[in-house]
Amino acid sequence: MSILIIYTTKHGTVEKSVNQLRERFKEVETVNLLKEKVPGLSDYSTVIMGGSIYMGRAQKELTSYMEIHLETLLTKKVGLFLCAGHPDKSIIEEEFNQSFPKRLIDHAVAKEVFGYELDFAKMNMLERFIIKKVHKVKESQFKLDETKITHFANKLR
Ligand SMILES: Cc1cc2nc3c(=O)[nH]c(=O)nc-3n(C[C@H](O)[C@H](O)[C@H](O)COP(=O)(O)O)c2cc1C
Repeated sequence: MSILIIYTTKHGTVEKSVNQLRERFKEVETVNLLKEKVPGLSDYSTVIMGGSIYMGRAQKELTSYMEIHLETLLTKKVGLFLCAGHPDKSIIEEEFNQSFPKRLIDHAVAKEVFGYELDFAKMNMLERFIIKKVHKVKESQFKLDETKITHFANKLR
């Protein structure tokens, strides 16, 4: 039985992570929740879910999918990940705990924050303003951590 990766992304960092995860498994299918329909879960033994954080929250499409399908997800091998760029580790931890149902976090065999990208070329004016003023970041940053992605994948094999 194969692996399903369900994800949401705004500017593509999560998608990049998903592509790196893909390379680390044999049988894997991916679904961008914002664009595609999620297939029934009966064909998959492992389900990986991930999204990104904006203003403290993950995409609501991801959080509501997990709430609706929680009981089925609890029968699978589960991996949970985020892309998030807050510099404070305790805030990142809080963001992770708020993004996934507690029962799913307790059940998951792999949990990770892969890092982040802040690409000014992909942001609109408001986003650039927020990143400069609130996050005090002046230039694009590319901080996805491949080692964390490899570790995460190894736990799910
Ligand atoms: C406008 C804006 C707001 C953000 N807010 C947060 C935040 O509150 N906390 C956080 O950890 N990261 C925050 N980030 C960082 C994103 O989570 C990071 O850029 C991530 O890589 C985005 O992934 P995506 O391209 O897949 O959507 C923010 C980024 C932007 C552009």
